[in-house]
Amino acid sequence: MSENQQHTLMDKIISLSKQRGFIFQSSEIYGGLKSAYDYGPLGVELKRNIMNEWWKSMVHERENIIGIDASIIMHSKVWHASGHLAGFSDPLVDCLISKERFRADKAPRPKSGDELPIVCIDKGQAKSFQEIIKKRFNIELKRSGKKLEGLKVINSDSFGFFTDDSNKPVETFPFRGYVGPTFGSPFLSEERQFNLMFRSQIGPVDVLNEISSFINKNEKMNEKEIRSGIDEIIKKSAVYLRPETAQAMFVQFQNCQQSMSMKIPFGIAQMGKSFRNEITVEHFIFRSCEFEQMEMEFFVEPGTQKKWLEYWRDARMNWWQSLANNPNKFRYRLHEKGELAHYADACYDIEYEYPWGYDELEGVASRTDYDLKKHEEHSGSKLSYFDQQKTDPETGKNGWRYTPYVIEPAAGATRGLLVYLLDAYHEEKVPNSDGSESSRVVMKFHPKIAPIKTAVLPLVKKEGLPEIARDIVSKFFKAGINARYDEQHSIGKRYRRHDEAGTPYCITIDGQTKEDGTVTIRDRDSMKQERLNAENVVEIIQKKLSIS
Ligand code: GAP
Repeated sequence: MSENQQHTLMDKIISLSKQRGFIFQSSEIYGGLKSAYDYGPLGVELKRNIMNEWWKSMVHERENIIGIDASIIMHSKVWHASGHLAGFSDPLVDCLISKERFRADKAPRPKSGDELPIVCIDKGQAKSFQEIIKKRFNIELKRSGKKLEGLKVINSDSFGFFTDDSNKPVETFPFRGYVGPTFGSPFLSEERQFNLMFRSQIGPVDVLNEISSFINKNEKMNEKEIRSGIDEIIKKSAVYLRPETAQAMFVQFQNCQQSMSMKIPFGIAQMGKSFRNEITVEHFIFRSCEFEQMEMEFFVEPGTQKKWLEYWRDARMNWWQSLANNPNKFRYRLHEKGELAHYADACYDIEYEYPWGYDELEGVASRTDYDLKKHEEHSGSKLSYFDQQKTDPETGKNGWRYTPYVIEPAAGATRGLLVYLLDAYHEEKVPNSDGSESSRVVMKFHPKIAPIKTAVLPLVKKEGLPEIARDIVSKFFKAGINARYDEQHSIGKRYRRHDEAGTPYCITIDGQTKEDGTVTIRDRDSMKQERLNAENVVEIIQKKLSIS
């Protein structure tokens, strides 16, 4: 797919999301909050359907998996133990010229000998950057339109300023190995670690009061000492919004196992909101600060983790594919050794081919016994499992107490929603009754996740047709099927609207309904219509939904 087509598809999805009520920008009337999104009337149904399908396949349809719904705010010691307070951070850098702040690990990395042009938005900005560089670094870069030229990478540690006809640099500077992503500037600040967790305070403590009296009492302290003093004050009542749903399953391992008498191998599942103060928010809802996850921690006997990792990799892949039109757009990617998280001994990503290329949808990680051991160490509570039937491999005696190993399929629910929006989007040419062609957009959602299952449409708003239609809708409600009554606009427009909403079946009530009690059922994908008895319409749609 060309770069243009990629943009076009994402733009179309974003525009349809707003127009049809799938996803809106958060706080839009106030100018919008970047990286936060609201799920509209269709989006909330789609998201719930995806998450309910996950819950059904992971919890309800399995004897050995139980669910929890833990609080979003947990004891801050949880995040010390898990390593999130110390390590869950991104290296942040500032461009000294443009003030752009960006993630060092995601920045472009030019090679030795590469030119380092600084590309500005326009000529005016180029002139202003040229002056800043001259003032600060005492070199005058050549201006060529909106570009500043003359810089080149010398080696991995330095870059230089070269004038037109010389191979020798006039001036050299330390090189970090990367440049700012927007302008390409190599003039950068030191890297700082930026923690991704959202911090808040709990309880009636007036932190600001404590901080101001600390500053008043310690006037002579330098900036570093003041920062660390303030940090200590804040830490006392600090709490964090969870950056993943996973930790609650480790922390509640013992309670879950004992209350439900679970035997290993068994899993604990949870789905819900997670929060990350992402520096780079990108591709609509792909990476946002508030998102939803669907995670399961599967506790297994040490030594069996490879078998279970492969089992869950395949089970999760099959689940994603079973709800998609294009199963071939999903693939696995085994993590390289250097890329593995500190707690994992192996990991597969399930990737989807987004418009910008393959990228992560779900991680299936073999997390060893790292988490349970860490929480045991920090809390002082035993988080082990005793298997009476097994022999302890070390002592040879009956009964084996061990810390279980963990396989974790960790999926993004909101990211999954984006995948199914992309997968469902189709533009088609359709024949008109006069032989000409028009085009339609149709969201071919799997009926299990389609926001509205069926729409009941009276052909006209009179002659008793709305009453018949409403009566049919109420029968659907009683059967627990999400049906919509829709009488606005012409029948053609209503069909198009429900094609865009992804409604699998439209039922039309017309004059003939009054005569012989039949209705037409229109199939979203084939657009074929069949006339059937109105009496059986709920059972017919139920059957169609369950076999598709
Ligand atoms: N417990 C492990 C864990 O959280 P992760 O790879 O950081 O692993 C799992 O997250 C999944 O959550 C990802 O594969 C992705 O689908 C989703 N996810 C992570 N960060 C996200 C964000 N900022 N916005 C949307 N989805 C995100």
